[in-house]
Amino acid sequence: MKIQNQHYRSIWLNPNNHQQVQIIDQRFLPHQLEIKTLTCWQDCATAIEEMWIRGAPLIGATAAFGMYLAALQLPAQQPEAYLQQVAQNLLATRPTAVNLRWAVERQLHTLAGLPPNSPNIAQTLLNTANTIANEDVETCRMIGVHGLQLLKDIYARKTTAGPLNILTHCNAGWLACVDWGTATSPIYLAVRAGIPVHVWVSETRPRNQGANLTAWELEQNGIAHTVVVDNCCGHLLQHGMVDICIVGTDRTTRTGDVANKTGTYLKALAAHDNGIPFYVALPSSTIDWQISNGLKEITIEQRHPDEVKYVGGISNGQYHRVLITPPNSQAVNYGFDVTPARLITGLITERGICPASEQGLLQLFPDMYFPD
Ligand code: MRU
Repeated sequence: MKIQNQHYRSIWLNPNNHQQVQIIDQRFLPHQLEIKTLTCWQDCATAIEEMWIRGAPLIGATAAFGMYLAALQLPAQQPEAYLQQVAQNLLATRPTAVNLRWAVERQLHTLAGLPPNSPNIAQTLLNTANTIANEDVETCRMIGVHGLQLLKDIYARKTTAGPLNILTHCNAGWLACVDWGTATSPIYLAVRAGIPVHVWVSETRPRNQGANLTAWELEQNGIAHTVVVDNCCGHLLQHGMVDICIVGTDRTTRTGDVANKTGTYLKALAAHDNGIPFYVALPSSTIDWQISNGLKEITIEQRHPDEVKYVGGISNGQYHRVLITPPNSQAVNYGFDVTPARLITGLITERGICPASEQGLLQLFPDMYFPD
């Protein structure tokens, strides 16, 4: 997608130095476009943990490149054990998005065919990291192709005047993936297809991925949007101001429960109560085929309470962080919540749209099923 009319991905290999990976440091958006260079696996782990990058597919791609960077510094003794340890360290960075495990396991699987001291380890891991990134671009594009048909149908059935109003939460855009985004991909394609679209962007406290990232990427790509506080979305849904909700997911059970940024569940409840379709867009790398009960089996990340107690922003050209609670108040920061499948109208995947159920997912992905 575009930044100041120039095409970017969210992660890439430095074309001038193939031993470096580059990312957009998302902590400074929308105020500052900063490119960061990652030179070792520890940089990748920090980038994931401290959210220089974030979003389930991009977390996976960054970890895959982290395995490659680790292979550039392989010790002569026990290289296999070293890579296994790096894999464990990368896996410990963030617990909820399953793409992290998916990408690291895919890298370990790639290695399984090579002798421990093979000179091809780094190149093999680089090839797989590039494949993961390139596949993500195509997967997200296909989510857009299937989602576009849905948006066309909903727009054709719309009985009120005005644009197609889409509500999204957090950032399930190209910044969360490698390109296109999941929830945003149908939106980008709908605009290209000539459908008048307006996006309600919920700000997504505490880290404000909606206000900071989704609003910015929509603005950069010329998409009409309005930022609202998270708590306003029930009102929008009650008053016919939303035609469809589309959100992303960090982990989807094989039965169609969805863990996504905290606040997603409340939007799904309000959408259900008001008969508004609620869709989740996801690459199949986000499906955890090993689990069936989202509430019991998905680890919900708890982040630092200071993310709740402080807000940051620009004033007089300078970034400031300000305290918004009494200094001694306790705060708790659950990063995600689980939306049960019964509240989800459908899952938009790279292979098509299906009901949020085991049967629905199996119809699209019979080859990926992975029973306990
Ligand atoms: O904590 P974050 O910013 O990594 O959370 C991101 C989300 O919740 C996204 O909605 C999700 O990763 C889907 S991204 C296509």
